[in-house]
Amino acid sequence: MTAPGDERYEAAMRRALELAARGPLVGGNPQVGCVVLDPEGTIVSEGWHHGAGTPHAEIDALSKIDSARGLTAVVTLEPCNHTGRTGPCSEALIAAGVAKVVYAVADPGPVEGGGAERLRAAGVEVEQGVLADEATEFLLPWLTATRRRTPWVTVKWASTLDGRAAAADGSSQWITGPESRERVHEQRAASDAILVGTGTVLADDPTLTARTESGELREHQPLPVVIGERAIPGDARLWEHPRGVLESGTRDLREVMSWLFEQGVRRAYVEGGPTLASAIVTSGLADEYLIYLAPKLLGGPLLALGDIGVGTIADARELHITAVERLGEDILVTARPGSAGLRSRVSDLDKLDHRNSTAEARPPKLDHRDER
Ligand SMILES: NC(=O)c1ccc[n+]([C@@H]2O[C@H](COP(=O)([O-])OP(=O)(O)OC[C@H]3O[C@@H](n4cnc5c(N)ncnc54)[C@H](OP(=O)(O)O)[C@@H]3O)[C@@H](O)[C@H]2O)c1
Repeated sequence: MTAPGDERYEAAMRRALELAARGPLVGGNPQVGCVVLDPEGTIVSEGWHHGAGTPHAEIDALSKIDSARGLTAVVTLEPCNHTGRTGPCSEALIAAGVAKVVYAVADPGPVEGGGAERLRAAGVEVEQGVLADEATEFLLPWLTATRRRTPWVTVKWASTLDGRAAAADGSSQWITGPESRERVHEQRAASDAILVGTGTVLADDPTLTARTESGELREHQPLPVVIGERAIPGDARLWEHPRGVLESGTRDLREVMSWLFEQGVRRAYVEGGPTLASAIVTSGLADEYLIYLAPKLLGGPLLALGDIGVGTIADARELHITAVERLGEDILVTARPGSAGLRSRVSDLDKLDHRNSTAEARPPKLDHRDER
């Protein structure tokens, strides 16, 4: 019998994680990779999930070999046990005659999970937890969103070194340089939705498209979502967005987040402005911060964040910095709430459980003009 943590399985899982990263970050489904090993531990097939509606990683890997009888499948996520746009992977692995399945993290989905149990019931040996920490970190946004049933929320802002998000007259284009702006477009394209407050739409008339350096539209365009009670002006450039635009008509952030999750949004990218960003921070909805700092000073009243419910230093919201990067003259700081370390992230994740969620998928007054 092979002991858990067997080096062959770890090496295979590492390869499966590399393959998983080839899949899209957007579209609602997790990035999953799979390798099939022969009894000597040699990889005989590889697969990954290419995006919603396409075969899952296990099916992709099985499709490339004549027979998987007696072989071992090493998968980054527990094989699913449910029929969506594709059939259950657990059944496909059983039908293929796989002898053993090794996976890293359990599928937290209320209907997708249970694949391991199904495999064991069919006599397939199952081993869980190989490179679980790496796989958890890799899949953290998706795992968090799926357990909590609200999107993973990244809050981004650009500010001067003195923390200003706009000049006294409200102008904020462009605080940061071209390298930072290019990165923002990449991050937009890696998100399912971009969220802004009505104030930003009225002040800046943004397009919220994800563009290349030369100004072309990128292949994936996140859905623009405008949060607030006021209406978007009829002549706003946002109405020309290729995905249409969603107007929430409400300031109820939890209601909007639950609804976005039901629409398949797993990664939400919040682009401000300060009022919306502050409300999101205050509500405890921010999972990650991307703070672009430009070597400028503006002074004045227009701060990157306003009131976030902190009256005294002891109540400061603690963050830990996960990356610091120089982009041209700017600095990009990536931070997450809470204390440092994967353990705390895994334990935070364990606290999230969709079965305890009382949030109902009740659509807010969203005006979706996709059909325009
Ligand atoms: N530096 C940056 O990164 C950056 C990014 C974006 C914007 N900006 C600048 O920010 C300025 C606009 O600031 P802003 O704060 O007015 O923009 P904002 O945060 O985009 O919009 C504020 C509005 O959002 C609505 N809202 C939605 N949910 C809310 C909630 N839970 N709580 C409170 N309000 C909520 C409210 O309007 P309703 O009355 O409609 O409900 C509120 O007045 C502009 O100067 C713009 O250039 C800077």
